[in-house]
Amino acid sequence: MQNKEQRENAFHAPFVLKNITNTYLRGDIVKELEEKILKEGHALSENILKVDSFINHQVDPVLMQQIGDDFARHFANRGITKVVTIESSGIAPALTTASALKVPMIILKKQPSKVLNDNLLQTVVTSFTKGTSYELTLSHQFIEDNDNVLIIDDFLANGEAASGAIRLLTEAGASIAGVGILIEKSFQPGREKLIAQGIEVYSLARVSKLAKGVIEFIPEEN
Ligand code: G4P
Repeated sequence: MQNKEQRENAFHAPFVLKNITNTYLRGDIVKELEEKILKEGHALSENILKVDSFINHQVDPVLMQQIGDDFARHFANRGITKVVTIESSGIAPALTTASALKVPMIILKKQPSKVLNDNLLQTVVTSFTKGTSYELTLSHQFIEDNDNVLIIDDFLANGEAASGAIRLLTEAGASIAGVGILIEKSFQPGREKLIAQGIEVYSLARVSKLAKGVIEFIPEEN
């Protein structure tokens, strides 16, 4: 019969082992994600990249695990206490990142909830891509003054969702360690908007151009 400490060690053992033996480099995961985008993604227009088969509808869990490991490695030793995402497509990579960092993950809600009604912080976010607005919501009880938060999301386009998340988290008293993004549409202003607020943006695939049948990336610096 294991005692509590033994059970906790057993639970954490695979993560510790994985962190020690994990030899993935940033370039490997960027290449893998870009190849997957080229193989399975569809540029629907000059603005929209469809990645329903592995991010937005069906989810590739192995890829999400590798992405989470990479985000965790990049933001290691920054004293991150929580990973925050915006529902729904950011949840999978945020969870794998939080798991690798061994910290809680918080989902910012877009829908008003009947059960989530205590001490709420809210801010309006307008999506230019979808032409909609929603009230991004955080329950204050999950953020404390000394929290240092990493924000993870699937796409960075105009930076509105991430800016909304930063507003809420700052209002709650947290500091922002950075933003981790799977696919940045670098021809849109999201990155500049966040950098102008003093926020580090760490993106994996950086799309420089979309057109019907065309998907191009910013080459990785060596
Ligand atoms: P922004 O936050 O950077 O300003 O982006 P914007 O409002 O323009 O986009 C909002 C929604 O549209 C987000 O999803 C975002 O992930 C998605 N999005 C933006 N550009 C693309 C794209 O080229 N392809 C795809 N597939 N999605 C894109 P959301 O509303 O939060 O939806 P979800 O997380 O529930 O999937």
